[in-house]
Amino acid sequence: PIVKELFGLSDMEDRMREAFGLKRVIIVPGNSDESDHTKMELGRAGSRVLRTSLSSGDVVAVMGGSTMARMASQFSNPSQLKDNWFVPARGGLGESVDYQANTIAAELAKRTGARYRMLHVPDHLSEEAYQTIMQEPNVREVVDMIRGARIVVHGIGDAVTMARRRKLSEETKEELVKDGALAEAFGYYFDRTGKVVHRMATAGLRLDDIEAAGLVIGIAGGQSKGEAIASVMRFGHDDVLVTDEAAASEALKHV
Ligand code: BG6
Repeated sequence: PIVKELFGLSDMEDRMREAFGLKRVIIVPGNSDESDHTKMELGRAGSRVLRTSLSSGDVVAVMGGSTMARMASQFSNPSQLKDNWFVPARGGLGESVDYQANTIAAELAKRTGARYRMLHVPDHLSEEAYQTIMQEPNVREVVDMIRGARIVVHGIGDAVTMARRRKLSEETKEELVKDGALAEAFGYYFDRTGKVVHRMATAGLRLDDIEAAGLVIGIAGGQSKGEAIASVMRFGHDDVLVTDEAAASEALKHV
């Protein structure tokens, strides 16, 4: 707390909370774009929020990304979480293996003795193949578990960066720009008003599941993500935001 006072961060946390109608905002000092130390601190703050939010029996659905990976690598709990499940929020999404939601769910579970399930639904399936896979009883079972998760933890990305990272076609990228996509989270793309303008075709959480979840935690930092964070917060279903100073100060310019 002393450090936060020194940097005026608790005042910024209040302003963010009010501006975006959030229950809780945690801001770490610095800019994750420039400092890996800040990004680690962001991950650590995220892992603390998750640890202190968990109740017995909770199912936690997690997204992927490098920020979530840092959160997972620092996650711990004093006792074994034998009674909790970690599941990937969405399948596929074209991330490299270290950043996939499956990998992150498994890591969180392994670090704490919790249980996990994987969702193996590749990207770019034909509608027909997708429907067939979804009828597999064990896929169905995991999807039902994901859709009923009480806690959702996700990263937030800049739309263009994420479209490039996921190697979307030129045509889709142009459409995203035309539709004013600024942000990406859980496979959905949002414009500045928080409206969904595009979604990736894969199984898992849907928007109404996010609305129904008991606790939604967003973790994202870096000045370059400020505007994207503001868009996703305007979508309006996050309860807690964990971010850094540079992202928050940028997000506040877009209130
Ligand atoms: C993805 C998540 O894996 O990571 C997205 O699906 C998020 O919700 C993205 O936008 C952020 O990635 P990073 O590496 O910037 O934390």
